[in-house]
Amino acid sequence: MALHLPRACILLEWASRACHKTMITLHLRFPKPEHSHPILLAPGLLDRCGAALREAGLEGPIALVSDTTVAAYHGARVRRSMEEAGFPVLEILLPPGEKTKTLDTAAALYRRLARGGIGRDGVLIGLGGGVVLDLAGFVAATYMRGIALVSIPTTLLAMVDAAIGGKTGVDLPEGKNLVGAFHPPRLLLIDPMVLSTLPPAEWRNGMAEVVKAALIGDAALWQQLRDHPARWAAMPEIEPLVDLLTRAIAVKVRIVEQDPLETRGEREVLNLGHTFGHAFERVSGYRVPHGEAVAAGMMAAAALSARRGFLEEPRLFQDLEDVLRGLGLPTRWRAWLARYGIDASPEDIIAAMGTDKKRRGGRLRFILIHRPGVVRVHSDVPDEAVLQALEETAGL
Ligand SMILES: NC(=O)c1ccc[n+]([C@@H]2O[C@H](COP(=O)([O-])OP(=O)(O)OC[C@H]3O[C@@H](n4cnc5c(N)ncnc54)[C@H](O)[C@@H]3O)[C@@H](O)[C@H]2O)c1
Ligand SMILES: [Zn+2]
Repeated sequence: MALHLPRACILLEWASRACHKTMITLHLRFPKPEHSHPILLAPGLLDRCGAALREAGLEGPIALVSDTTVAAYHGARVRRSMEEAGFPVLEILLPPGEKTKTLDTAAALYRRLARGGIGRDGVLIGLGGGVVLDLAGFVAATYMRGIALVSIPTTLLAMVDAAIGGKTGVDLPEGKNLVGAFHPPRLLLIDPMVLSTLPPAEWRNGMAEVVKAALIGDAALWQQLRDHPARWAAMPEIEPLVDLLTRAIAVKVRIVEQDPLETRGEREVLNLGHTFGHAFERVSGYRVPHGEAVAAGMMAAAALSARRGFLEEPRLFQDLEDVLRGLGLPTRWRAWLARYGIDASPEDIIAAMGTDKKRRGGRLRFILIHRPGVVRVHSDVPDEAVLQALEETAGL
């Protein structure tokens, strides 16, 4: 297997074995103690995940759910570590990609678990990107009225976003994430080394959410991105990577803790760039990658913030464009959509927002940037201003 790994991965694996790395432990606290859980982050953690489960008091047996791509790179290490810690492991592999995140796949998983003898005392491990984690989480929430879940995210997006907050779910033909459950993991294990095998497009996708996290709640992280945009275009050295992950995760943890069950509204700020972004995704028939849509969406949100007079730092718009460009993400939506063969007008984009679930009481709600680290929800934005922001950020 090692022979097939990219060179970067082999080097990083070597580095992880050679150096003694400390563990970073964060906590995500929900009102119910049984929902609260630690987040462990350490290079090389995959090789120690079995021991981490034991330390968390988890017993077996284990069902390890992953997709075939992730399993080919990282599955054996997780399995080995679990077996070394004395856990019997039932491995279940799924095809990669969003089309796997369905009720049919969930049903097939329930049956595999039942046939594999996984009972109420079983532990379901999701090893993969957001697709695997959402699906595995949903199955863990519902199988036998709920069994223990351990999440091991392997994409940047899953580490900083999908794995945090307890939301699980599957898609319906009628829309994404329409069926779901709140089911936080008992343990969230993050090994940054696994990102060394991530395709560049997936790295960029995740970086869009990191930029979002910085703008929402970490001015220092924003400064780092702004000062060295090119440094983050690909996976950096391990130390800055760990710092980046810890900071972006901390932003989401803080916001989720303020609004644990998404009932109070604080969690809405996590949708920065997403009201526009979802509209771009919709007009494209979901052909554009989510991270790219969020990047173009954040530009439109920044333009709207400036137009409404909320932006306290006028240079932020240009800085954001430089950061996103440095990361290889789109900033001007018309030219970007044209690359996917999509010709849309600002009016088309606004029409596509009409069905957004963030529209409440007939008015669209936008997350607007006041300054790096400070964003607010605004529900009184006239369509005229939205149209102007879209025209301003259309590009050629
Ligand atoms: N629950 C939440 O709060 C939440 C939040 C944001 C997104 N999501 C969901 O997350 C999903 C998107 O997640 P994603 O972007 O991680 O996509 P993904 O899970 O489809 O992973 C992207 C691709 O990368 C591959 N991959 C994963 N890890 C790899 C690695 N280390 N090396 C090589 N290849 C690897 C996968 O096989 C897949 O092909 C969507 O379904 C979205 O709805 C959920
Ligand atoms: Zn997103």
